[in-house]
Amino acid sequence: MKKILITGGNGLLGQTVTRLLSQETNHDVLVTGREQHSVFDKLPVRYSRLDVTDKKQLRDCIQEYRPATIVHTAANTNVDGCEGDREKAQLLNVKAVEYLAESARINGAHIIHISSDYVFDGERAPLDESASPKPVNYYGRTKLASENVLRGAGIRFTIIRSMILYGYGIDVKSNFALWVLNNLSKNKKINVVVDQYGQPTFVDDLGYGIIKIIDLDRTGLYHMTGSEVTSRYDFAVAVAETFKLNKSLIQPISSDEFRQAAPRPRYSEFVTQKARMELGIRLSNVREGLSILKKQMEQRTHNVY
Ligand SMILES: NC(=O)c1ccc[n+]([C@@H]2O[C@H](COP(=O)([O-])OP(=O)(O)OC[C@H]3O[C@@H](n4cnc5c(N)ncnc54)[C@H](OP(=O)(O)O)[C@@H]3O)[C@@H](O)[C@H]2O)c1
Repeated sequence: MKKILITGGNGLLGQTVTRLLSQETNHDVLVTGREQHSVFDKLPVRYSRLDVTDKKQLRDCIQEYRPATIVHTAANTNVDGCEGDREKAQLLNVKAVEYLAESARINGAHIIHISSDYVFDGERAPLDESASPKPVNYYGRTKLASENVLRGAGIRFTIIRSMILYGYGIDVKSNFALWVLNNLSKNKKINVVVDQYGQPTFVDDLGYGIIKIIDLDRTGLYHMTGSEVTSRYDFAVAVAETFKLNKSLIQPISSDEFRQAAPRPRYSEFVTQKARMELGIRLSNVREGLSILKKQMEQRTHNVY
């Protein structure tokens, strides 16, 4: 049994790791988040309020709980927002990681940190863990800077790079699959780009990968994504088909027509062999992930959480 502290525990990945750790392991878990309360009222989770940009609060929390492992999921994940408010993005995505690393060094904790395909420019593929990063937007620059903080911190750390997370969570910021679902179920038309490609990652797969890293005590860098490359448009169509919604509401457009504040890598594909082989995990393709999501959402109406 290990003592594990989760940051950003009310976010999509934070909730998933909390749920999987509580239901499938006997680790001692402290969930933390910026909000006053945890979103879970049916799981026996211990929760503390923690703003990771507050250095003193963070240091006190880690010193008091003394975790063996910190799963750091708190981040500013609004890619266009990061482009517009760089100071805010830097504070949460980089400075907070410095604070965390400092406390981890003092307390001998292992940090599991989540990074992104946005550390790359999308011009070369497929990319394994030895590929050289080259971010094209500010969010990507902060994620790369956070990786480098850990590399220079003199602590035990694991960096997992993932992309296009989708899944269900209570009151989470909408992810791409939920956004498609939400609009199509209200019969609303949506514009979706046909020329941005990536590997949608079912959040439970990433959650299981994190648990394996904890249990096997692995450090280093892992690429961990869904097994299939697809365009955003084709992913939206797969959502419509899985949930039996009207796919003709999905309008194909090009990135040039669809103005986004932050430039995006056009093509992201990771080699995930290291994660699959060393951790023994299976990474779902789009249809597999979406059909599990559908079941989870159906059960949700019967209070699965
Ligand atoms: N989503 C993706 O497609 C994707 C892809 C690749 C990598 N990642 C990485 O995966 C990790 C988890 O992403 P996610 O999708 O689970 O993000 P998310 O749903 O946006 O969750 C992030 C959580 O962090 C919280 N947070 C914000 N500021 C905080 C603070 N100062 N102190 C403590 N918590 C704070 C957020 O709370 P509020 O909601 O109150 O702001 C939210 O609950 C992030 O590191 C992200 O960069 C995500």
